[in-house]
Amino acid sequence: MVNIEIKKGVYFVGVKDPKRKLFDSLIPLPKGTTYNSYLVKGKDKTALVDTVNPGFENQLIDHIAAVTEVGKIDYLIMNHAEPDHAGAIPFIMKSSKATLITTEKGADMAKKYHGVSEKRIKVVKNKDKISLGGKTLEFIEAPWLHWPETMFTYLIEDKVLFSCDFFGSHTAVGFFAEDAKDLISDAKRYFGEIMMPFRIMGAKALEKIEGLDIQMIAPSHGPIYKDPGKIIKLYKEWTSAKTKKKVIVVYATMWNSTEKMVQSMIDTLVKEKIEVCSYNIANSDIGDIAEDLVDSRGIVLGSPTVLGSIHPIALHALNLVKALRPPAKYAAFLNSYGWGPSTKVVADALSNTQIEIVGVVEANWVPKKEDLLKIRKLGKSLAQKIKE
Ligand code: FEO
Repeated sequence: MVNIEIKKGVYFVGVKDPKRKLFDSLIPLPKGTTYNSYLVKGKDKTALVDTVNPGFENQLIDHIAAVTEVGKIDYLIMNHAEPDHAGAIPFIMKSSKATLITTEKGADMAKKYHGVSEKRIKVVKNKDKISLGGKTLEFIEAPWLHWPETMFTYLIEDKVLFSCDFFGSHTAVGFFAEDAKDLISDAKRYFGEIMMPFRIMGAKALEKIEGLDIQMIAPSHGPIYKDPGKIIKLYKEWTSAKTKKKVIVVYATMWNSTEKMVQSMIDTLVKEKIEVCSYNIANSDIGDIAEDLVDSRGIVLGSPTVLGSIHPIALHALNLVKALRPPAKYAAFLNSYGWGPSTKVVADALSNTQIEIVGVVEANWVPKKEDLLKIRKLGKSLAQKIKE
């Protein structure tokens, strides 16, 4: 793939990275990802919107060179300072006389993180515009999507929104949305991993762009939306913290005691007509868990006690839940133990969240009949809360 003209005078010059396995040393990328960069050519000036991950500079340069000389870039728009989009900034700044355009917070990051000279930075505020000659870029402050400095760039004449991380998806499959099978699931998973903790800021950004005529969304990861209505609608839903009558069950098990407890809980919830998804953490992708956290109203955690705490992988899942700040309202904990329960670990972890622990069942060694009865009772109480 070289460059692709997505609108007249607007080119995709980014790169695909289908082999990347992990993002932020945390999130698995089963379909890889892309670093989308766009070149906008006006009659008088040329702008590059975002760059690429470090290590892909030469591909970026080749793609730009198929449209124009890199030295002819007048403006480098930095919507976001994270290196997957800003990694090639030093390279572009060195190869051109471009002025870097960013927000006030972005200017600080451009200087400190990417070594850009203050003299070459122009700070823009919400609704500021730059004319390229027949093409006008308008900047929209959209902080915390996903760092504090983030902004969107709107190309007025072509009605294209360059939204950087927002509306993105980690997949190297497909170029336009219609070519990407399962894109909605990929986009939801990405939302869960990246945007869910910032959903209040996401909702504010959606309000800001409400009146804009957007005919194309060109994010900086994953496919481009030529018909953006559906993804905007989904983002409205996901940022609203609206949940379904749904419970996500995540558990670790060593000798199947916890698994028996979990299965009893699942059976009860299903009988109560609650949608259930379950993950044995040991062989699950945490991105799938993040995806289901987007609209689950309840969370059930199951874990044996190991070395005085919950199992380390259950602790990882618990920390992840806390970090991703899902909209779930209720939780339950199922704990099997030999010589000491570990309920306090979970209670402490969730104590400063909005999540109410509806109940806990602790079973010594293997769950007995009375333990399973307690789980059924807890499952019914949880289902009741979920249905309210
Ligand atoms: Fe895709 Fe926050 O960087």
